Amino acid sequence: MSEKAHYGLLKGKKGIIFGPLDESSIGWQIAVHAHKEGAQIAISNVATALRFGNIEELSAICGNAPVIVCDASKNEDVENCFIELKEKFGPVDFIVHSIGMSQNIRKQLPYEELNYEWFMRTLDVSGLSLHRLVSYALKTEAVKDGASILALSYIASQRNYWTYSDMGDAKSLLESIVRSYGPRLAKRAIRINTISQSPTYTKAGSGIPGFEKMYEYSDLMSPLGNASAEECAEYAMTILSDLSRKVTMQNLFHDGGYSSMGATIPMIKLAHEVLNDKELAARVGLDDYTPARECPES
Ligand SMILES: NC(=O)c1ccc[n+]([C@@H]2O[C@H](COP(=O)([O-])OP(=O)(O)OC[C@H]3O[C@@H](n4cnc5c(N)ncnc54)[C@H](O)[C@@H]3O)[C@@H](O)[C@H]2O)c1
Repeated sequence: MSEKAHYGLLKGKKGIIFGPLDESSIGWQIAVHAHKEGAQIAISNVATALRFGNIEELSAICGNAPVIVCDASKNEDVENCFIELKEKFGPVDFIVHSIGMSQNIRKQLPYEELNYEWFMRTLDVSGLSLHRLVSYALKTEAVKDGASILALSYIASQRNYWTYSDMGDAKSLLESIVRSYGPRLAKRAIRINTISQSPTYTKAGSGIPGFEKMYEYSDLMSPLGNASAEECAEYAMTILSDLSRKVTMQNLFHDGGYSSMGATIPMIKLAHEVLNDKELAARVGLDDYTPARECPES
C-alpha cells in the first residue's frame, strides 16, 4: 500500500493526546497522524493502560513522544499532568480528549438497573473529565491562545441507542461542556469541538453489547459507509490545524452521512429480506421480535 500524503498541517505545533491504548484506538490514530503532520506530541493515559496497552510502541512511532500517566478523573493527576507538559513543551497548541469508559456497560446492567456509583464514574471519566482537562490546562497556563481542543463523541448523545446505556448520558454531558466552554475560551481565540464518530472497532467500542449489529446497521445507513479510526484521525487534523480557526462549539459529524439519513436502499432491502425469510430473521435475532405497540390495521 502506498504511503498516504501528509501536508505539514501541524508543523511547529505541540499538543497532548489523552486516551490512546492500542492501534485500534481513535486516540492512537490521532497521535500517529498528528506526528506525521509535523506536530510534537505527548501521550497520556491511566497507569493500567500503560501496562496493558502498547503505549511505549506509540511513543517510539511518534518520535519518542513523552508519556504522562494521568487519571483524567483525578484533579491532582490532571494538574500534575499539565505542569509536566508545560515543563516539557511550554504551552501547547492542541489538546485531544479521547477517553471513555462505562462499568455499567462492561457488566451489561440494564439501563433501568444501573449501579449509580458506576453511573457517576461514567459521567466523571467520560464527560466531566473534559471540563477538568480544560480547567487545569487554563490554571497551569499550559495552553496557548488560539489553541484547539477536541473531544470524541457519539450520536447517542442526541438519540436513543438502547445498548449504549449511560454512555449516551455521558456524551450529552460532554457535548454540553463544549458549548458551555465555547464563548469563555473564545476570549483567547481557543476553540473547542467534538467529533461525532461512526461506530469503530476499538477496545471501548467493541465492549458495547450488540456492537457488531450496531456497526453493520450504521454501515448500511451511511451513504459513505462507516468511518474508520484512521479516517477520523485524518479529519481531526483539520480541526487541530489553523484551517479551522473559526470553528468552535460544534459537534462535527464524521459518520459517512449517517446522521442525516432517513432510510437507505440497502437498509430497506435488508428489512424486506428479513421480513420475508424466517430463517434469516432467526439468524439476526429477530425471530421473536414483537413491536412494542401493535400497528393499526389498514
Ligand atoms: N469506538 C467507537 O465506536 C466510538 C464511536 C464514537 C466515539 N468514540 C469515542 O472515542 C473515544 C476513544 O475511544 P476508543 O473507541 O478509541 O476506545 P479506546 O478503548 O481505545 O480508548 C478509550 C481510552 O480511555 C482511557 N481511559 C479510561 N478511563 C480513563 C481515565 N480515568 N483517565 C484517562 N483515560 C482513561 C482508556 O484507557 C482508553 O485508552 C471515546 O471518547 C469514545 O467514547 C468511540
